[in-house]
Amino acid sequence: MSRLKLKVGIVGAGGRGILCFGKEIVTRNDAQVVALCDPNPGRMELAAKELGFNPKFHTSVKDMIAAEKLDAVVITSPDFCHESNAVDALDSGANVLIDKPLSTTVKGCRNIIDAAERAGKVIMMGFNLRHLAVLKKLKKLVSEGVLGRIFLIENREFYSGGRTYMSRWNRLYAKSGGLWVHKGSHDFDIFNWLLDFPKPVKVSAFAGVDVLNPQHIPFEVKPGVPVGPTCHQCRYGEICPDIFRDEEVRKSLWGDSAARVDGYSRDLCMYTSDKDTHDNGIAIVEYENGAKASHLECFVTPISDRRYTLVGDLGQAEVSLEKRIITVYSRWGQEVTTHYIPEAQGGHGGADPMLTDSFFRVLKGEEKNTSTIEHGMWSTAIGQAAEISRREERTVKIAELFQLP
Ligand SMILES: NC(=O)c1ccc[n+]([C@@H]2O[C@H](COP(=O)([O-])OP(=O)(O)OC[C@H]3O[C@@H](n4cnc5c(N)ncnc54)[C@H](O)[C@@H]3O)[C@@H](O)[C@H]2O)c1
Repeated sequence: MSRLKLKVGIVGAGGRGILCFGKEIVTRNDAQVVALCDPNPGRMELAAKELGFNPKFHTSVKDMIAAEKLDAVVITSPDFCHESNAVDALDSGANVLIDKPLSTTVKGCRNIIDAAERAGKVIMMGFNLRHLAVLKKLKKLVSEGVLGRIFLIENREFYSGGRTYMSRWNRLYAKSGGLWVHKGSHDFDIFNWLLDFPKPVKVSAFAGVDVLNPQHIPFEVKPGVPVGPTCHQCRYGEICPDIFRDEEVRKSLWGDSAARVDGYSRDLCMYTSDKDTHDNGIAIVEYENGAKASHLECFVTPISDRRYTLVGDLGQAEVSLEKRIITVYSRWGQEVTTHYIPEAQGGHGGADPMLTDSFFRVLKGEEKNTSTIEHGMWSTAIGQAAEISRREERTVKIAELFQLP
């Protein structure tokens, strides 16, 4: 890697690939995007416009790496094809940054881990939440022992942008592994990271679609005038309080020229779409050291925040990511300390540029890779167990997942 700029390819020229990583990488002086790999040539054309130059277009990861002699690829394709894309990239000799989740199943994760061992290349998880200033500060306080031995964690995630999980490919279990994997893997990784990676042992979860279904359309539907199927086709646009005005989106990567190829629309009606996911739920995890964690996620809410409670034998922390506040209560001393974290610039509260920078620092040997694919596997494991628990209505032992064919 002695060239001035590392040669990077992006696998999956969509929202994360182009609007996050692509746009970040073009600002760097140590890396350049030289190629895109996506089954949709129309989207690659639109992606090139977004980036402001013309990378090479490919539809095969292996061919792209061989033809362009890439140093690294960033994998931002839909979750169900992370496994095949990562294995192909590693087998072709590229270093990899892979967005969460590592794969939709433990088996898929283990296949990637095997490929990484064969390849001896860097493969780093795109766990951007770990780079958020509030959570970095919280991790520091935990590592310094301010709370003592942590035995209980709760996270309540409220996300007002939940339509994205009802209107796109991630609404389908077959493509995302379900929302406990697709979305929850972020949060399960934060639990694992804060607890310093004890093995998760058991998971129970409950979840459902309680609001974003046809029974709860928030206006009167006239006989013979169906809603949807997309917001831009819907005849109730004037009265639907959830109408998604996607004119801007359709000017970028999801324009008509791309939609003509794969029919991908980001504005399927969130009430009537053919989803098999959830709009709210609770998952509980028990770890080998006895620590317990609970994760609530709700996508029907007017607010967006992650609110954590951590309890240790020396104190308790209350955290709001949105307000960027950590309050620490000491167990015996009546002491209360509040930490206000300054706002950071960039996507996901400044976490995306930090994550991108971290990947290139790892590639240049300036930093150790601390977001490993083993970490990716454990967060997927909790998510997969939560999906099974929810569907089969039982507590799932993580060990079971390692026996599945
Ligand atoms: N870390 C985060 O905060 C965060 C946020 C959103 C999404 N994600 C993850 O990023 C990834 C991409 O999500 P997105 O929202 O950008 O999706 P997207 O739909 O915007 O983009 C996905 C792109 O992948 C392409 N694609 C489809 N099949 C492919 C294949 N087999 N090989 C290569 N490309 C393929 C699609 O044509 C599309 O252009 C997902 O894994 C998702 O879980 C992470």
